[in-house]
Amino acid sequence: MNVLLLGSGGREHALAFALAKSPLLDTLFIAPGNPGTAEFGDNVVLDIMDGAAIAAFCKVMGVGFVVIGPEAPLVVGVADQLAAAGIKVFGPSQAASQLEGSKTFTKMICDRAHVPTARYRSFTEAGAAKAYVATEGAPIVVKYDGLMAGKGVTVAETVAEAQAAIDALYASEPGARVVIEQCLIGEEASFFCLVDGETVLALASAQDHKRAFDGDTGPNTGGMGAYSPAPVMTEAMEARALAEIVRPTARAMVELGHPYRGVLFVGLMITAEGPKLIEYNCRFGDPECQVLVLRLKDDLLTLLLATVEGELAHTGVRWKDEVALSVVMAANGYPGDYARGSEIKGLEAAARLPGVTIFQAGTRQEGERLLSQGGRVLNISAVGATVAEARARAYAAVDAIDWPGGFCRRDIALRGMAGA
Ligand code: AMP
Ligand code: GLY
Repeated sequence: MNVLLLGSGGREHALAFALAKSPLLDTLFIAPGNPGTAEFGDNVVLDIMDGAAIAAFCKVMGVGFVVIGPEAPLVVGVADQLAAAGIKVFGPSQAASQLEGSKTFTKMICDRAHVPTARYRSFTEAGAAKAYVATEGAPIVVKYDGLMAGKGVTVAETVAEAQAAIDALYASEPGARVVIEQCLIGEEASFFCLVDGETVLALASAQDHKRAFDGDTGPNTGGMGAYSPAPVMTEAMEARALAEIVRPTARAMVELGHPYRGVLFVGLMITAEGPKLIEYNCRFGDPECQVLVLRLKDDLLTLLLATVEGELAHTGVRWKDEVALSVVMAANGYPGDYARGSEIKGLEAAARLPGVTIFQAGTRQEGERLLSQGGRVLNISAVGATVAEARARAYAAVDAIDWPGGFCRRDIALRGMAGA
């Protein structure tokens, strides 16, 4: 089978790495891909937001299956367009992708399915939003309702901070919808599930590090590192998350006429009362995907096809009994302004260290040289028998890389070690 993977980040490098191992695969195409994905398939130039162009490419090249990595094409309905053209596609429909694209939609589903989540109100005007914040008090969370790559959220410690965030949002977008919610206290975890209609197959858990700097300080980012499994996601906690959150959501989506088919990224806060939903995403996490594929024992392509073909009820999945960890190296300045084009050296030697796999994200090949081309640039990943071993291996590889233009957090999974 020929497969086309859409996307160009570290997540897609990890997906390409796993798909390329499949006995079912003939040729893998990646659009647009990056220098890392080129090792596993043919990078092709295609607009990943243009469903008609992608369908035409599939017909010409005999592609039987499309795997959509990022959320942007899903939210505009690329999966629907491919399905309408008779092409099998992994990724939910536009209507089902509202679980990521619209926080108001997700809260409506939570109400309907009695899913535990933060208490909230939704507003379209600054005055009413600020008045609500004043009555609720702090800490409180202000969220822009739309896709902001994790950067549209303010966890405010004071009422003044929350009101300033509301003012800033309405100054940049007068008609914006904003969701104000109760601040949940606990440990965060990401839980990944394959969903086909009502059937849910739990994959695995991971913990992300969203803040830019050590000690969870600095601005929110797309994620500066992750490890799997997340110690808070014990078997009992997974069972509760499935019973109280994921299965009721899947059922509600079927009842609404928008069955969810794809991977559901469940962002959880493990509170004193149990797991509560922070948010859904309709795709694999980045960098969470990188650590999941390193622990996966089974064939990824078989699992993704089973999801699309409605076979999850007859499908199982096995994981290595190891910890996987990934440290993101980002360009200096990220998530603010950063320079492109600084040279990265030493990658090959670092990748040969024991247990280490390096995924590329924002990179560009120029002749023999590898240059930075984005904010998050490299995912230095490693497996180990313990968190400590995986950490030591990943940071040994970080230290073997010569890239003055980049930085990373030094404390990935330190909290996981304290809890382990
Ligand atoms: P989101 O884009 O909804 O994932 O939010 C980004 C980050 O903000 C989350 O990963 C949490 O760390 C934090 N956050 C979001 N909502 C809440 C909440 N209700 N309570 C506490 N923290 C939250
Ligand atoms: N790492 C968080 C995300 O992919 O949204």
